[in-house]
Amino acid sequence: MTTMRITVDVAAPYDVVIGRGVLDDVDAWLPDTAARRAAVVTTAPVEEHHAAAVTAGLRAAGLDVHVRQVPDGEAAKSLDVLGQLYDWLAAIPLARTDLVVGLGGGAVTDLAGFVAATWHRGVPVLQVPTTVLAQVDAAVGGKTGINLAAGKNLVGAFHQPLAVVADTATLDTLPARELRAGMAEVIKCGFIRDPRILDRIERDPAAALDPAGEVLPDLIHRAVAVKAQIVAADTHEHGERALLNYGHTLGHALETLTGYARYRHGEAVGIGMRFAALVSEWSGVADAGLHDRTTAILADVGLPTVCDPVDSDEVFAVMARDKKVRDGLRLVLCERPGVARVAALDRAVLERALARVRHP
Ligand code: GLY
Repeated sequence: MTTMRITVDVAAPYDVVIGRGVLDDVDAWLPDTAARRAAVVTTAPVEEHHAAAVTAGLRAAGLDVHVRQVPDGEAAKSLDVLGQLYDWLAAIPLARTDLVVGLGGGAVTDLAGFVAATWHRGVPVLQVPTTVLAQVDAAVGGKTGINLAAGKNLVGAFHQPLAVVADTATLDTLPARELRAGMAEVIKCGFIRDPRILDRIERDPAAALDPAGEVLPDLIHRAVAVKAQIVAADTHEHGERALLNYGHTLGHALETLTGYARYRHGEAVGIGMRFAALVSEWSGVADAGLHDRTTAILADVGLPTVCDPVDSDEVFAVMARDKKVRDGLRLVLCERPGVARVAALDRAVLERALARVRHP
């Protein structure tokens, strides 16, 4: 299987390297750096499977390597864990030219990126994502951050990585639920920019979920290409980058209201995309059919399409705190697969769509 490279053309361009086994050559993908030490942030299960290869590669690049485990999932993205990491970096000590490495899923790459963005006012970070979600979304594009009780990613910074090394073999050991959840971000890229993604999944959903096959790496490559293009055009989200939040406004609200414990991020985003598709149709932005196609493709990859009962006032209160909501209720809508835009909406249409995606 070939190794694919996509350059994210931001102020300091960097490569996303995608392929089977690329994690065994981390030193080959690490750009020239003055770093002498590397601080690897990871979780227990990821350390067990992948840390040996990554630390060997970093040592081969001449680095003194330190590894630290953080809790699995969104629990890692807290002020407490962040404070513990700062103490650890101080003890190493990690200098301004040294390297932070995020090895794990999206929560780890978000946290490691934020630690790197803020330690000594910014040190380099190498992202080594080990989930579909992190490979196509969290580790690419430089958004980093942690959560507060009041909402997801409320504290954060833009901090682009030195490189992203996405080894599709790491997906072999990923729990099926995580793999499916990551597909929500892939599907999102299909609806907002590259509809061939949707065609490929619909043609053979089982192949789309098989890390050992050819289809999933191709889908990851296509989704990263979408993200790289959008991030290069609007790095700091003054416009077009907001499209990457398709499905996320309701998705983040569901995650926040359930303490980040009920839904995987991609599951909540999937329900959010169904909600956004309904709103797109009902507000006249999309033709009929978008909602049915959305529901079918989510079901094809085993993602939920309805959420548990939620109080709509609470949902709207959280959505109103969302960073993407400006001047009233705005949502990313899909005109047709491949074309999306942000629109201002009446609460009534959102209420009606929420009632439809929520269990009675
Ligand atoms: N995850 C959305 C973005 O990176 O903009």
